[in-house]
Amino acid sequence: MNNKYELIYEGKAKKVFTHDDADKVIIEFKDDATAFNALKKAKFEGKGKLNCLISARIFEILIKNNIPTHFIKLENENTMITKKIKVIPLEIVLRNTAYGSLCKQTNIKPGTSLEKPLIDIYLKNDELNDPLITKDRIELMKILRSKDLDLILDLTLKINEILIRFFKNIKLKLVDFKLEFGFDIKNNILLGDEISPDNCRLWDLNQKNDTIVSLDKDLFRNDLGGLIEAYREIYRRINDFL
Ligand code: TMP
Repeated sequence: MNNKYELIYEGKAKKVFTHDDADKVIIEFKDDATAFNALKKAKFEGKGKLNCLISARIFEILIKNNIPTHFIKLENENTMITKKIKVIPLEIVLRNTAYGSLCKQTNIKPGTSLEKPLIDIYLKNDELNDPLITKDRIELMKILRSKDLDLILDLTLKINEILIRFFKNIKLKLVDFKLEFGFDIKNNILLGDEISPDNCRLWDLNQKNDTIVSLDKDLFRNDLGGLIEAYREIYRRINDFL
């Protein structure tokens, strides 16, 4: 990164830098992968670039469908320019199919299709290990007004509909995903962060039987291998379709 730009924040998978315009930032996607609150760490050459390119494509689709997002444009293969937002410390997870922590914490069987999308909200706080949080606790902690939370939940459901449809076209099943939102300088709520195989579960629909073939970060979480190949395959399918 050009050293005239100042590092504002470094997360587990991205770095955020200042931009010449005060209401914008530059986001650089790193090759680092973490899981289980960074208990597990690795580096995958090319992951940052693939996630940046995949996220950019998906943000463009969402913007076309009138979803307000922070995305402005790609700067190069692993950096994008976005609107500067004040990130709301909540991780909004939407699940269409039961998997991952839902199945560890309940007796719902992995792979069960949910009758309607389930939204689980987590407090974004690494020290507390991102606990599951309730609407009442969000209000109690004064994280967000209830009308803003309702808007975020409504946007999450709309994003789900758009993404299910899109991924189905490229023979991928959208099992679940995690979103983050924030306020821009005019106090509008925008979708932030990234949308990539790091924060979505995507299963290959090109399978003859019901075998689960993950093309997402579960390959790393569950030590299955082939992460870069899977991310590359997703990017290829997106580009072939668009
Ligand atoms: P979970 O089943 O582990 O709760 O994950 C649900 C979805 O959220 C899955 O697509 C992975 C994503 N996720 C993140 O993006 N970041 C996280 O820190 C966690 C725990 C999950």
